[in-house]
Amino acid sequence: MKLRVRPVTRLSGRIEVPGDKSISHRAALLGALAEGTTDIRGYLEAEDCLRTIAAVEALGAEVTRKGPGEYRIAGVGRRGLTEPANVIDCGNSGTAVRLLFGVLAGQPFWTFLTGDDSLRRRPMKRIADPLARMGATIVGRSDGNRLPLGIRGLAQPKALAYESPVASAQVKSAVLLAGLHADGPVSVTEPAASRDHSEVMLRQFGARIESRGLTTTLTPGPLSAAPVVVPGDISSSAFPLIAAAIVKDARVTVAGVGLNPTRTGALDVLAAMGVKIEIAPYGGEVLEGSRGPSHRAAGEPRGDVTVSTSGLRGTGIGGALIPRLVDEIPVLAVAAALADGRTEITDAAELRVKESDRLAALARELGRMGARVSERPNGLVIDGPARLRGASVTSGGDHRIAMALAVAGLVAEGETIIDDTECIATSFPRFADLLNTLAGQRCVEVEA
Ligand code: S3P
Repeated sequence: MKLRVRPVTRLSGRIEVPGDKSISHRAALLGALAEGTTDIRGYLEAEDCLRTIAAVEALGAEVTRKGPGEYRIAGVGRRGLTEPANVIDCGNSGTAVRLLFGVLAGQPFWTFLTGDDSLRRRPMKRIADPLARMGATIVGRSDGNRLPLGIRGLAQPKALAYESPVASAQVKSAVLLAGLHADGPVSVTEPAASRDHSEVMLRQFGARIESRGLTTTLTPGPLSAAPVVVPGDISSSAFPLIAAAIVKDARVTVAGVGLNPTRTGALDVLAAMGVKIEIAPYGGEVLEGSRGPSHRAAGEPRGDVTVSTSGLRGTGIGGALIPRLVDEIPVLAVAAALADGRTEITDAAELRVKESDRLAALARELGRMGARVSERPNGLVIDGPARLRGASVTSGGDHRIAMALAVAGLVAEGETIIDDTECIATSFPRFADLLNTLAGQRCVEVEA
């Protein structure tokens, strides 16, 4: 599938983006592990999160779809999951596979997991190592580093105090989930704070969990079902919001966006680049089909974010900021290419092991559109402002690269044709429709 993108001069409107991907995965997993029935609203019905639903079903939890984004999960309790009859395919989703590994480290049976071409290339040792120290047996390719992998957990994993070498919420969450019925408390210390959605939701489900500085400690215990309202995904909202900053005459509001401070790094960077951003309390009650009036959704703050056309200047993006915007770097790179001056992205080696090597992809594909992007081992140097021109580019099968290139296409001269864009369905179905609605014209055409 290809996207054909034509430039626009105007974007305006108030929209909602689909539910948060990270929170949706966690809701399915905790719902299955809890005692009682979990009702979820706003679940992200995109390929990645549907994989997690299928996985918990394969492990014996009953899931009922009640309506769009509405799911009911009959929890089986921490010890109630059963051996799946087949290999579980996590598709493109790193979060699905790594969090499932954490759950499975506490289940005394074998499960085999695999994924698509991209996921089978991604490193799994980062979770296999701590989980093996807790007593799980993990076997498979590349000495347990690459899918397909098999895991056999323990009914009672061993307690662990883990110093994680990477600031990764997936690693942290895997250890915490494995610790739910460990023989003592588990703790994870990270080099920088990663997203804390697991901690927030575990607390909502009655777990004893404490965070002190960069260390999170969970005391084993049962989970009890709690309702979950999933806020809009700030990572998805970054695409229309940055589009609004760079299109000539634009003002876009994304309503009901999750504003957990461990995820709002992109808003801080945009503000530092001179972008006009307004954040208001969630006004969801006035929107048809909205997720309800509360300013907090399942313990997560949310609000309405508005961005209007702005002059941008280059900035520095590095250090502890990186985990707070790790998924937004592709579209921030587009903003940087158009900004006045230099933007240096540092400490971002993690981008090389995402759905694709995003540093290489951004330098190559944005370069084709006339951006001045140079690749460094751990980051990018972007000199702006560039005059972008339409080109034939490819996502390399990475949803966030595909959408970032589409945003660049909105301000490029001429037509941009983006190849390999099916992947957008992993996180943001209807992305093209939404941009077309904001533009009031078909600026993004989907072609077979
Ligand atoms: C995620 C954590 C991040 C992020 C991913 C989702 C999560 O990955 O890039 O899209 O839901 O925990 P890492 O934990 O590997 O940094």
